[in-house]
Amino acid sequence: MTLRFEQPAYHHETAFIAALRDFERAGEWIADEYYRQKRDFCAFVDALRLAETQPRPYHVPESYYWLFDDDIWVGAVSLRHELDDMLIEFGGHISYEVRPSLRRRGFGLMLCRFILKQAQQRGMSAVLITCDEDNIGSQKIIEACGGILQDTRTSVWYKRPVRRYWITLTSGAS
Ligand SMILES: CC(C)(COP(=O)(O)OP(=O)(O)OC[C@H]1O[C@@H](n2cnc3c(N)ncnc32)[C@H](O)[C@@H]1OP(=O)(O)O)[C@@H](O)C(=O)NCCC(=O)NCCS
Repeated sequence: MTLRFEQPAYHHETAFIAALRDFERAGEWIADEYYRQKRDFCAFVDALRLAETQPRPYHVPESYYWLFDDDIWVGAVSLRHELDDMLIEFGGHISYEVRPSLRRRGFGLMLCRFILKQAQQRGMSAVLITCDEDNIGSQKIIEACGGILQDTRTSVWYKRPVRRYWITLTSGAS
């Protein structure tokens, strides 16, 4: 088992597509951008890499990382460098997902810890993470990383109750 984080690259196509099938089998939907790019994997990778410095209109800059175990695509995590009106209510600074067949093995926590270090290295002092009120796995991850619950709210962008946590990076990024 050799775990490593990498930013999306063209040579990840086979591993990514296998993971995508895993999500599809579980009835889950990921990687909107892949479909927006008409399943052109290289265009998809270009879009993810560009999002860091030249985001699409109405999007904030976002850095994407993928976790691999040897050649297996395990999960994805991203860091939004700032918040906008929607992200403050729903979405926050951080997103992560683990492929369904590899859940409950600690990878979710690993993704979150990794991205908090990235945020710290960027000089961010605190991050907002949101999750659905019934997403127990995500809540456990956020709380294990030092998340302090600010509130639970619905918004015009997302009608279901969302728990909003802040993590102070100087003391919380464990
Ligand atoms: C949420 C998610 C990232 C968790 O990934 P994971 O790899 O299973 O998480 P971990 O193995 O690190 O588990 C962390 C903790 O949550 C618990 N947990 C994970 N999934 C759980 C579930 N469905 N129900 C209850 N507890 C759960 C684990 O047992 C572990 O608890 P512990 O610390 O007491 O041992 C994964 O389920 C996922 O990708 N979901 C879809 C996308 C998503 O919801 N992303 C988060 C958006 S905020």
